[in-house]
Amino acid sequence: MTLDDARALHDELAAQVKYHRDLYYREETPELTDAEYDALERRLRALEEDFPELKTADSPTATVGAPISEKFSAVVHGVPMLSLDNAFDAEDVADFEKSLKRFLKLSDEDVVAYTAEPKIDGLSCNILYVNGELTRAATRGDGTTGEDITENVKTIKGIPHHLQGSGFPERIEIRGEVYYPLSEFAEMNAKAAADGGKVFANPRNAASGALRQLDASITASRPLRFFAYAWGEVSDPNFTTTQSGALDCFRAWGFQVNPNSTRVEGAAGLMDVYDRIQKDRSHLGYDIDGVVYKVDRLDWQRRLGFVSRSPRWAIAHKFPAEQALTRLLGIDIQVGRIGTLTPVGRLEPVNVGGVVVTNVTLHNADEIARKDIRIGDMVRVQRAGDVIPQVVGVELSERPEGTAEYEFPTVCICPLKTEVVRESTAGGAEGVARRCSGDQACPYQRVEYLKYVVSRRVLDVEGLGEKQLQKFYEDGLIQEPADIFTLEARDATNLKKLKDREGMGDLSVKNLFASIEARRDLPLDRFIAALGIKHVGETTAKLLARAFGSEEAFRTTVTAAAEGDEEARDAIEHFDQIGPVVANSVISYFAHPYQRAIYDRFLAQVRVKDAEVVAADSNVSGKVIVFTGSLEKLTRDEAKAQAERLGAKVSGSVSKKTDIVVAGPGAGSKLKTATELGIMVLTEDQWLEMIGA
Ligand code: IVH
Repeated sequence: MTLDDARALHDELAAQVKYHRDLYYREETPELTDAEYDALERRLRALEEDFPELKTADSPTATVGAPISEKFSAVVHGVPMLSLDNAFDAEDVADFEKSLKRFLKLSDEDVVAYTAEPKIDGLSCNILYVNGELTRAATRGDGTTGEDITENVKTIKGIPHHLQGSGFPERIEIRGEVYYPLSEFAEMNAKAAADGGKVFANPRNAASGALRQLDASITASRPLRFFAYAWGEVSDPNFTTTQSGALDCFRAWGFQVNPNSTRVEGAAGLMDVYDRIQKDRSHLGYDIDGVVYKVDRLDWQRRLGFVSRSPRWAIAHKFPAEQALTRLLGIDIQVGRIGTLTPVGRLEPVNVGGVVVTNVTLHNADEIARKDIRIGDMVRVQRAGDVIPQVVGVELSERPEGTAEYEFPTVCICPLKTEVVRESTAGGAEGVARRCSGDQACPYQRVEYLKYVVSRRVLDVEGLGEKQLQKFYEDGLIQEPADIFTLEARDATNLKKLKDREGMGDLSVKNLFASIEARRDLPLDRFIAALGIKHVGETTAKLLARAFGSEEAFRTTVTAAAEGDEEARDAIEHFDQIGPVVANSVISYFAHPYQRAIYDRFLAQVRVKDAEVVAADSNVSGKVIVFTGSLEKLTRDEAKAQAERLGAKVSGSVSKKTDIVVAGPGAGSKLKTATELGIMVLTEDQWLEMIGA
């Protein structure tokens, strides 16, 4: 693979990782199982190992979680919120104990006490108490900066507004997990399914959805609960000497502490608790995905410290994925936005760890062939920490007679019955996916594409969700992007249709028109993303927007290239991070008169704003900047946008590649790292002076 190809592939994988992280952490609607997501991230890491120059500070491999949503203001945690290493079996647990004993220079006979606590599968939350008053609460965010959800957290039962009793530190961040109880979750989802509302994949997502509301009264109406299990910044680190002591304090101060948290001795003791909790798991009333073990003595915890992003003194012992056997009744094909054909298995309904599973993704033709999955087979289905299930394999001993190898369709199931082709990746290699080659002429692709156009990531039209769009499409109201904007002008008949057929009231029609109107001023990158060009998702659209600057430059250059102008093609291929594959894809979009007409009609409806020009010759261009601590003159977002306009790269973590750290009050570990690495550290004022602002 050439570096250019690797770059294109990297761009695609990085965009996918960011997209799926966003869905998981911010949208609460994951499309991948945890295992699939992990595989995706592993591919990206492997590529970066082969091509280290692609491992930039803004690569998703350099960060955890997801950046916080712009909807909330940012809160910098007093002490970062870290993650835990995993153990999967007794051997891993024994190794955990062995290595910490080695680290503490303890002998085999020395006894280490731990707390074993159920690992709640919810949403971690950091709550600051000052003089016993709940002062601020934040989501974990990227571990360093979270989202301010103070008002929402105040509505959760079991989180005291004033700490009870006395003896609490003057300032303490209490950490724990917000979760959605299972019975209420099932009830809520059933209701949502009946009313056409948002159905959540699992209680974790539902908790996240309920907590991350701009209107705290919505959070208040949800049955969220909280278990306290840790702390962050604290004015008196000696408020207790053990983890179990801390849990007792939390209880005394008015928090719910998980009643199954136990103090035990030795790895064998841990395994006993693990077995017990695993047995009780289905009766707990909330989702857990393992047991967390923590060294009980805090002086030992302090000595053990951290390796990269996890403590040496704790580990999460994960439960194995839950599995069940059931029959594969059939295989349906779904057509995606760019024509990818995804085989979906229809199952005889089966209960997998408390969730009834009827469908399962079979990924692609190669996967079916590799596992030799046949219609009629008994298949082993697994849920790995999520409700999106997968097929682990086929129970060959139970294969009925007369089954045949599955033949992937050679023509699409769409009315066009187009030929099915193998998809190529942005890197140009042959991919595993099969595609319908009907492009925008295929009605299935078109409707998926239009759903993407109105989604939050592109046009972000409020009040026009997937279901609504599907109906509008079927009724012929929206067939292409331009139609969204002419909906109101075509009012007389549409309004009646909207009201009669789509069941919308006057007010929702009015709101819909208003939110469409608000989208007529469109940044260039979103305009480009909305074209639905293959290989051009939001990330690549941003690169293109930055490279071209204006819609006019984009249109004229690409049109010239489509008409055979080699110089124009060359220019596109050589833009930063754009290779021949993306260039080709963009150019061939413009080469189709049919698509060009859709483009022109769309353009006629919107005002495309020029991309902000990145000054290439500023004194900070090309420099990697990290902002830490609180800024007083600018918000984080403003500071970041300003730096990027000047051609700098803004990163969330300090490394050898960092050029400048801008540190405000409250800066913690990043500032320390910067000083250790000898990186230039500026105050906010010095920074503003440097960039001449
Ligand atoms: S302790 C530095 N205790 O698991 C360690 N975490 O993978 C801080 N979690 O982000 C975490 N139950 O969301 C801890 N009893 C428990 C937990 C727990 C659930 C979650 C938490 C954390 C993640 C770590």
